Amino acid sequence: MSFPSVRPRRTRQSDPWRRMVRETRLAPDQLIYPLFVVPGSGVRRPVTSMPGICQLSVDEAVTEARSALDAGVPAVLLFAAPARKDEKASAALDPSGLAAEAIAALKTACPQLLVWADVCLCGATDHGHCGHVLPGGVIDNDSSVRTLAEVALNYARAGADAVAPSDMMDGRVQAIRRALDRDGFAMTPIVSYAAKFASAFYGPFREAAESAPAFGDRRSYQMDPANGREALREVRLDVEEGADLVMVKPAGPYLDVIRQVRDTVEVPVVAYQVSGEFSLIKAAAERGWIDEPAAVMEALTGIRRAGADLIITYYARDVARWLRSR
Ligand code: PBG
Repeated sequence: MSFPSVRPRRTRQSDPWRRMVRETRLAPDQLIYPLFVVPGSGVRRPVTSMPGICQLSVDEAVTEARSALDAGVPAVLLFAAPARKDEKASAALDPSGLAAEAIAALKTACPQLLVWADVCLCGATDHGHCGHVLPGGVIDNDSSVRTLAEVALNYARAGADAVAPSDMMDGRVQAIRRALDRDGFAMTPIVSYAAKFASAFYGPFREAAESAPAFGDRRSYQMDPANGREALREVRLDVEEGADLVMVKPAGPYLDVIRQVRDTVEVPVVAYQVSGEFSLIKAAAERGWIDEPAAVMEALTGIRRAGADLIITYYARDVARWLRSR
């Protein structure tokens, strides 16, 4: 059978038809909203490169989280930019440090909100790298992993509903799982940034998280954007080590990786629409060059169609509101 008896346009001719045959859906339950916490109170410092996104003191982060929850977003991803930065990442290990304080405050104010805590060293180290640096600038994998496990434990103790290691050191998921289990946090899930690429699209984030590396770059630990098979290897290893959810990051330029990961593992797949992906749409929208809500919905639907179960996006609250007002 072919044209004229076959006419795919028949099921496209009206909105009810289009709604019924739609293959991919976007819902607020699939979204995670990132928050950037800084010291102080009453602070809402706009991130220049990410219009609409602010660095927030803990009290303001609570307000922001509550409004996201009210819009229907079930989870936030927390990043802290503490004042004290040193080679040991002390602030991230401190039970009364900024991240721990923010986690506790969010859970007290919004017990139903899931708080995912980003686990990394870059926001708390003076050199801005995601692991410990040896003389000569080499990243020391195994000592970094030990510290990362301690950081994860610190955040779990503070009340985090999940820990999300974003450092890309080898073996960190296993180390974190062991540390959590040993200390009574066997029920705390690990959301692993399993396939995290060394991307130019993280640029705006580094302003927000104050985490730009002081020297060199992250290519000795984050993945080469050219490598798809290696991404599957990373994902499989993290699942073997105990990851409960795996992440692909960034999202838009890596839709093929999302699809392959979805077809390879059974755990939920999370995609991170990163800062640069957000800022591109924002900048074009501010110039009147693009219809912002339509472009955002299309980008996120594409990420879902590629196979992502969940999406971390700076548009999470907006999208939840748009979906509800439809
Ligand atoms: C740091 C981290 C980064 C992001 C999340 N965690 C940046 C980086 O690796 O330099 C990027 C998020 C974004 O760009 O929105 N470990």
